[in-house]
Parts: sequence; C-alpha cells; structure tokens
Amino acid sequence: MHNLNNELEMLKQVIQDFEKDRPVNTAASAREVLETLDVGLSDSGCDSETLIAFAKQYVGLNPDVSQTDFFKLLYSGLNAPALFGEWVASLSNANMHTYQMSPVATLMELELIKQWNQLIGYEHGEGVLVSGGSQGNLIGMMLGRHHKVGDCKRLGLLGKTLVAYVSDQAHYSSQRAANLLGIGTDNLIGVASDEEGRLIPEELEKEIKSSLEKGHTPFYIGLTAGTTVIGAYDPIKPCAEIAKRYALWLHVDGAWGAPVLFSKDHRHLMSDVSLSDSMSWDAHKLLSVPLTASGIQVKNPGMLKDAIAGGGGEYLFHQDENADFNLGEKSIQCGRRADSLKVWMSWKANGSQGFANKVEHLQIMKAHCVEQIENHPRFTLLAPSAYLNILFRYEPEAALSEEQLRELNITICKNLKSKGSSFIDYASFKGRSGIRLILGNVDTTSEIVDNVLALCAEEGDLLTQ
Ligand SMILES: Cc1ncc(COP(=O)(O)O)c(C=O)c1O
Repeated sequence: MHNLNNELEMLKQVIQDFEKDRPVNTAASAREVLETLDVGLSDSGCDSETLIAFAKQYVGLNPDVSQTDFFKLLYSGLNAPALFGEWVASLSNANMHTYQMSPVATLMELELIKQWNQLIGYEHGEGVLVSGGSQGNLIGMMLGRHHKVGDCKRLGLLGKTLVAYVSDQAHYSSQRAANLLGIGTDNLIGVASDEEGRLIPEELEKEIKSSLEKGHTPFYIGLTAGTTVIGAYDPIKPCAEIAKRYALWLHVDGAWGAPVLFSKDHRHLMSDVSLSDSMSWDAHKLLSVPLTASGIQVKNPGMLKDAIAGGGGEYLFHQDENADFNLGEKSIQCGRRADSLKVWMSWKANGSQGFANKVEHLQIMKAHCVEQIENHPRFTLLAPSAYLNILFRYEPEAALSEEQLRELNITICKNLKSKGSSFIDYASFKGRSGIRLILGNVDTTSEIVDNVLALCAEEGDLLTQ
C-alpha cells in the first residue's frame, strides 16, 4: 500500500507559499536565478525538506499567472476544479492510448468531443484531445493532406507541390505544420488580411489561382477564430465557398477564440463554423485549464483513424470488447496524459453556462477598457478589438517616429514587469507597435482595468517628461 501523507504535507507547504501575496513577476534574470538556486543534479539523493525548499523557490520565481495583474498571455487566472482534475490525473497516471488504461478518462474525453461537436454543429463529428493548439493545427493540415493526396500516408507527396493558405495574422504553428508535414514553409501562403486583421476572401482566391497557374496543388485553408495579436475572426462562409469550389480542406484554428461558441451573445463571431471540416480548440487558454488541454474536432467520422492509424496492433490495440473505445489510433501520440479529466472537471463544476458567463463578463470588461483608451488623451488604439485582445499604445504630445514609439511602449511594458505591478507585453499589427493587453482572467473588474491603464499612462508620462 502507498502512503502519500508525506507528499500531501509537502504540497500543502508549497500551496501555503503560493497563496501568499506576492508580485506578479520577480523579473529575475537567468543569471540571478542561477545565483540563488543550484539546479545541478548529482549522484547522491536528498531529503524531503530539500525538495520542499526547491519547490517553494520554483513557485516563487515563476510569474504568477493566476493573478488578475497577469495580462501577458492568452490565459490568466486559476481554475480550481481543473487543477483538482490535473492532480487526480497525475495520481492515476492513466494512459489515453487504450480504454483499458484509462476507462473513465476515455469516456470523459468522448463526452468532451461530443460537446464540442454540438457547439460547432458537426452532426456526426469525431475528435481527439491533443497536446495543444499547435498539434491541433498540425492534425488539421494533416487531414487536409490526406484528403487531397489519399495515398500520402504510404507513398509521400508523390512529387506534388502542395500549397496551404492561412491569413498573414495566423499563428506560427501553421509554419511548424507545413515544415513537419513535408509541405515546405514556402508553400504556406500568408493571405493578406484587412484593417481588422481578417483574411480577405478575394485575396485567398487570387492566391489559389496563382498556385494553380504554377502547376501547384492547393489543398488546405486554415482560418483563425481569434488571432493571437488582435483577436480577429476570419470570415468563414465566403472561405467555405472557396474551399468547396477548389475541393480544399477548411480548418478553423479556434485555439484562442472558440470559447465564444458558449455564448449566445458572441457566437456570431464564428457563424457558419459548421461549414468547416475541422476545428482546433484549447481549454488551456480562455478556459484557464492548466496547460495542456486541447482538442481537434472533425466533421466526417473516420477521417482521423484513416489519416493517422498504423502499427501497434500486435501489442497494444487488442481487438477486445472495448476496441471501439481505444482513442490511440486517432492520435499521433502513443503515451498520452488524461487531459480530459481536468477539462471535464472544470466543465462539470462550471457548466456550459459558467463558460458563457466568463466570455460575456470579459467582453464587458473589454468594452470598458476600449472606452477608457479611446477617451484618454495619451492612448491610441492600434486595432479594433472583436474579442479579448486590446492593442494600444502611449503616445506623448511631442511627435515621435514609429521606432521611438515602439521603444517607448516596450519600455513601459518592461518597467511594469520589473516593478512586479502588472505583467503586460508588446506586439505589432500592420507596422505599428504597442501594448498587447489580454483580458483572460474571470476575476477582472473595471477597477483592475483602470489600474493597469493608469500604470501604463504614469509610466509613459515618467519616461517622456
Ligand atoms: C491563434 C492561436 N493558434 C494556435 C496557438 C498555439 O496553441 P498552443 O500554444 O496550445 O500550441 C496559439 C497560441 O498562442 C494561438 O494564439
């Protein structure tokens, strides 16, 4: 029998430290951390007290992403039911390749897949959980390749030059996918986006025609629902018509923006998503489930196994009474964590309505933030804000060049980060750089929004006086 009382006590001590008030970021450089923490390993072991001390330092030196002052990434906050699920999943060490190694987690994963298919409107859809939005987009492109070149799995690309299309605002994971799948990153076309950061369908069609003229083989369109920098939603319906006309696979990257599907008020941002062939989502972004927790949904059942399965039948995927429940043949991974547990626990605790409420609350906070920026004499909004990304900058009275404005706003971000008061970051859109504020924490209030804007303005004033 196991006795985990000691580990439980150890964890409690670390949690006590975690719960104490502390700055959102220590801003310690790698050199400074190495001076205080010896991460070297050696032949001899150590006692529990040493491990606790390291764990406390580890937590103390990590940015505290659970705080409402953490605006840097596409997630912020702490989702307690999901954290509980994460701990239980690690305790069981379930493996998702076969039903027999993860009976309940498999059924939970299938329920999550069913729920997402309903949200999207894939009537007979299938899906599988993946290691992140990047893998979701990789699988989406892989399905497109399989759809266009059926024998690709066995025979490779057969000398064809396959071409994929995403917007010039798409996440870099499409480049990774084009590289991994043998498409070549030069054959991933970044289609022009409009002033609101949305892919322009007419430009997409022009690019497809141009590829055809070169004798290339278009195969995949990857739209984004919620772009990384400004949160733009690509128009699905006109692109679905183009995909149909040229027999291309239509994938939607919903890693960041798909949670709007929970909200009656905001799901219009993804209207006609059911016209797509696949969609990826992340629960570890807006839904605040601990990293990683993501999935890919596919409209036509059977596609995943068709495109992916191969091998393992002799020792792993036994044809027993539960063979239909083995998720491993739909996955590019062999060993896979039971991520379903934390997503399911979070969904069970919050209900779908809880997720809808989060989207709606944060949209109200976003509207407040945009209004404050628009009414502030020193702030300029650099892009419209359809979702929960706000890109703006501080501009002093004196005219500065684009490069000077970029430097100024980067310095504002760095100074706030090193003071530990707010963790914000910078980004650029259409040649203009500014501060990217992400509203992802459900506990955000209008006072918190006002506070971070006031800190940015104060810092900007200080730097330009
Ligand atoms: C739009 C979009 N797609 C995909 C990804 C990649 O997701 P992940 O970090 O889960 O691999 C990101 C990450 O920020 C993203 O913003």
